[in-house]
Amino acid sequence: MEFSNELLSRLKSSKNVGSVCGAGISQESGVPTFRGEEGLWKKYKPEELANFDAFIRNPELVWEWYNYRKKLISEVEPNPGHYALSEMENLFDNFLIITQNVDNLHRKAGSKNLVEIHGNIMSSKCIKCNRRYNDLPFHENVISVPKCECGGIIRPEVVWFGELIPEDLLRRCYEFLKECQFLFVIGTSGYVHPAASFPLIAKENGAYLVEINSEETNISYMMDEILLGTSGKILPEIVGKIKN
Ligand code: OAD
Repeated sequence: MEFSNELLSRLKSSKNVGSVCGAGISQESGVPTFRGEEGLWKKYKPEELANFDAFIRNPELVWEWYNYRKKLISEVEPNPGHYALSEMENLFDNFLIITQNVDNLHRKAGSKNLVEIHGNIMSSKCIKCNRRYNDLPFHENVISVPKCECGGIIRPEVVWFGELIPEDLLRRCYEFLKECQFLFVIGTSGYVHPAASFPLIAKENGAYLVEINSEETNISYMMDEILLGTSGKILPEIVGKIKN
C-alpha cells in the first residue's frame, strides 16, 4: 500500500503515538468480531450474555459462553498486526495501545504499554469479595459456576453492557489522549463508547487520526486518513516504512 508523505512525516516526528483497537485487529488470528455478517452478535444475544442481570439470572449460560471463548482464544496466536504494534513501542518515546479486546493477544505479542478498557477474558473475580482468579479451568465440560472461597459467585472480569470502565483505566486513557500527536484507530466499528469518542478527543487536542479497517465505519468521518484493508497487512508495512 502507498502511504501519504503527510502520514509518514507526521508519524516519524511524533513522540506520543497511540492506537485505539477493536475486534478487527484479532480477526486475522481467528477471533470472531462482534458486528457484521460473521459477528458474534449475529448468533448470540448480548442482553443474555454480556450484562450483570443476565449473569445473575443464568450464570451457567454466561459461563458456558465465556468458557467457549476462553478456549477459542487460548488456541490462537497474535497476527502480524499485533506484532507490528508491539514493535512500535520501541520506535516512539511513548506508544500506548488502548484496546477494547479482552483476548490477551496484545500481551502475547509482547506489548507492555497497554490499557485493556473492557478487561481481560482470562481474569475472573468474586462478585462478593472481589478476590481475583487468573487460572480458572475452561474446558468445554466445565459448565458449573465457579465459587469463591468466601462462597460468592465468580464472574469473568470483563466490562459488560451498562457497566463502567474502571476509573483508573479511563484516567490513563484521557491523560494520554491529551498528549497524543498521532492516533491509529484499528479494527473497531465505532459503535461502543467511550472508545468510539477517544479519536475525537485526541483530534481536538491536535492529534492526526489514521483509521485502519477493512471497511468504512461509524467514525470514519473523524479521520484525517482512512487506510482500507486488513491490519495484519497494513501495520507491518507502516513499521517497515518508519524503520528506514
Ligand atoms: P466490532 O465487531 O463492532 O467491529 C469490528 C471492526 O473490525 C469492523 O469495523 C470491521 O470492519 C473491522 N475488521 C474486521 N476484520 C478486520 C481486519 N482484518 N483488519 C481491520 N479491520 C477489520 O468490534 P468492536 O468495535 O471492537 O464490548 O466492538 C466494540 C465492543 O462491542 C467490544 O469490545 C464488545 C462489543 O460488544 C463488550 O463486550 C463490552
